[in-house]
Amino acid sequence: MALGWCRFFGACFIGILFLHGFCACDRAPYYSFMLNATSAPTISYYDYIIVGGGTAGCPLAATLSQNASVLLLERGGSPYGNPNITNLAKFGAALSDPSPTSPSQRFISEDGVINARARVLGGGSCLNAGFYTRASPEYIRAAGWDGRLANESYQWVERRVAFEPQMGPWQSAVRDGLLEAGVLPNNGFTYDHIKGTKVGGTIFDRDGNRHTAADLLEYANPGGLTVLLHATVYKILFATKARPKPVAHGVVYRDASGAKHRAYLKRGLKNEIIISSGALGSPQLLMLSGVGPAQQLRAHNITVVLDQPMVGQLMSDNPMNAIFVPSPLPVEVSLIQVVGITQYGSYIEAASGENFGGSPQRDYGMFSPKIGQLSTVPPKQRTPEALAKAIEIMNNLDQQAFQGGFILEKIMGPISTGHLELRTRHPEDNPSVTFNYFKEPQDLQRCVEGISTIEKVIDSRPFSKFRFDYLSVPQLLNMTASAPVNLLPRHYNSSQSLEDFCKDTVMTIWHYHGGCQVGSVVDHDYKVMGVDALRVIDGSTFNFSPGTNPQATVMMLGRYMGVNILKKRLANEDLAN
Ligand SMILES: Cc1cc2nc3c(=O)[nH]c(=O)nc-3n(C[C@H](O)[C@H](O)[C@H](O)COP(=O)(O)OP(=O)(O)OC[C@H]3O[C@@H](n4cnc5c(N)ncnc54)[C@H](O)[C@@H]3O)c2cc1C
Ligand SMILES: *[C@@H]1O[C@H](CO)[C@@H](O)[C@H](O)[C@H]1NC(C)=O
Ligand SMILES: *[C@@H]1O[C@H](CO)[C@@H](O)[C@H](O)[C@H]1NC(C)=O
Ligand SMILES: *[C@@H]1O[C@H](CO)[C@@H](O)[C@H](O)[C@H]1NC(C)=O
Ligand SMILES: *[C@@H]1O[C@H](CO)[C@@H](O)[C@H](O)[C@H]1NC(C)=O
Ligand SMILES: *[C@@H]1O[C@H](CO)[C@@H](O)[C@H](O)[C@H]1NC(C)=O
Ligand SMILES: *[C@@H]1O[C@H](CO)[C@@H](O)[C@H](O)[C@H]1NC(C)=O
Ligand SMILES: *[C@@H]1O[C@H](CO)[C@@H](O)[C@H](O)[C@H]1NC(C)=O
Repeated sequence: MALGWCRFFGACFIGILFLHGFCACDRAPYYSFMLNATSAPTISYYDYIIVGGGTAGCPLAATLSQNASVLLLERGGSPYGNPNITNLAKFGAALSDPSPTSPSQRFISEDGVINARARVLGGGSCLNAGFYTRASPEYIRAAGWDGRLANESYQWVERRVAFEPQMGPWQSAVRDGLLEAGVLPNNGFTYDHIKGTKVGGTIFDRDGNRHTAADLLEYANPGGLTVLLHATVYKILFATKARPKPVAHGVVYRDASGAKHRAYLKRGLKNEIIISSGALGSPQLLMLSGVGPAQQLRAHNITVVLDQPMVGQLMSDNPMNAIFVPSPLPVEVSLIQVVGITQYGSYIEAASGENFGGSPQRDYGMFSPKIGQLSTVPPKQRTPEALAKAIEIMNNLDQQAFQGGFILEKIMGPISTGHLELRTRHPEDNPSVTFNYFKEPQDLQRCVEGISTIEKVIDSRPFSKFRFDYLSVPQLLNMTASAPVNLLPRHYNSSQSLEDFCKDTVMTIWHYHGGCQVGSVVDHDYKVMGVDALRVIDGSTFNFSPGTNPQATVMMLGRYMGVNILKKRLANEDLAN
């Protein structure tokens, strides 16, 4: 058993908590298997090489390490000891940090909506709003997953990272307002996806500490796992000669000092490389490695290994629209806790308190222009200048202006899809992404119905104490759509339709997915079609975003596929013996 010293916080007493190579120090585990890539050998060999230590990559690596040797390569650093990640009240601090070492990398889609992708061990689960909720049994059936193993895998995840939220008065009023608005029945607290109104789970514990996918590495076998931080993979290596199909057999990665390393698969038929680099990173890395639309690859002087026109296609992001409701009463600080799962495919959620910007302590909310959220100008006008102006105005506003909360709606699916293309040959550069929000009329209809339900919540009796009577819903829409920051009134045009409101104020809830969808790039076992020894396992494989919010299912999928891969591996070893 490997031993390690707790060195993240002085508060941890050496020797008491050693257990399978990790110890818990102020909730920050020390992993003996986690190293800076600068200390890695130039060449190394493993049974499995996983690219991307994100929301799917961590549970996958922890599981495979039980019975095989695993290398997990993550381009970012450790989430532990960074309050911008671990502390609920700092939501958005990482999202507004533009430095090249920030755990978040901003990108702007061709639609003009400002968005973010993770660059840290634990991936998106280190940046997100924490809401934890499963996919529906219908979704699981349609995905072709075994329902029992999926449930066991959800439970495996939940034992480490999921909690019941503490409901404050504002979130409770949203819940009761949803019930009065007819989003029925009341399903209480549950992780399950059921029509009606519920309180969902959260990855923040009772003290407001975030538990991320990186915590699932506590399940790992330290003897079977190496996690390298600041290890950026540049390409997958393929053996292409004298075989019916190209076979993935290694990767090239660079450490923080720019030094190049190679990791190869050990000899063995069942050994594989698994890409878990997220919905932007996975299609991008496939293309950089020569698997993608041949014409596009050639335009970047990339040697074509396999002409696969579907890589980077069918990208989607669920549009989010929100209404700010100023409150006469103080409200609690909350991220997402309640969700209304409507009959018509719109999900209503809410966040309150200091989480939306303002004074220096209020910079980091879910709806702050500091993190790129700007609903007061249409997407294509969200220029750096427009953002800077909104931030300046926000900084000069009275604190009172921020008392209140946002009620948002996010549509299921969505049906509209777009595409991703390479911009450069550098893996750290963002590719170009188009999501085509509301291109399909049904998506727009779902938004309009969602906004109408939010109106009913605002007008409901249980919510009345958290709104000013003299501010009508049209005035609130006026404030949300036309204010200098996401909340101050400026200009109202009553002939504008809710359709226009949806299009003009669209933001992201960061549930983008696709690019390596099952059935078009990978098969039902997540194997990349047309090559051997390569899979993709993460949100890039989804056709629709699972549940109301995806992270539970992304983590579940990592565990689920790890178990399945080991099952096949062991069955084969039995046959060989
Ligand atoms: C701000 C925000 C709020 C959200 N809120 C919620 C919420 O409340 N509830 C919810 O369920 N979901 C939420 N989500 C969505 C959810 O977090 C994501 O869908 C999920 O984390 C995606 O997981 P993934 O494994 O597909 O990708 P990621 O978790 O992004 O993992 C990909 C990993 O690969 C690494 N990587 C990429 N390229 C390379 C390379 N070339 N070499 C090495 N490493 C590489 C990245 O650094 C990253 O760590 C939110 C997301 C964000 C960003
Ligand atoms: C990793 O090692 C490199 C080179 O020694 C160093 O520059 C970098 O700061 C290290 N990173 C971390 C997070 O320790
Ligand atoms: C690992 O192998 C052992 C022994 O073959 C088996 O009992 C165990 O279930 C395996 N673990 C996983 C996660 O598959
Ligand atoms: C936290 O975020 C702030 C603001 O974005 C940034 O200035 C600071 O460097 C970050 N701290 C860490 C430890 O990353
Ligand atoms: C999985 O759990 C859900 C409830 O969380 C239940 O509705 C479903 O029937 C279970 N599926 C199986 C196959 O056991
Ligand atoms: C591709 O290679 C050609 C010939 O070496 C060069 O002229 C061109 O600029 C390269 N294109 C890119 C995108 O690197
Ligand atoms: C919208 O805001 C502007 C600017 O504050 C104000 O003049 C106008 O009356 C508002 N319209 C409504 C309907 O509230
Ligand atoms: C109000 O909106 C309608 C429809 O979008 C538009 O035709 C009209 O010019 C707008 N009026 C003002 C005063 O902006």
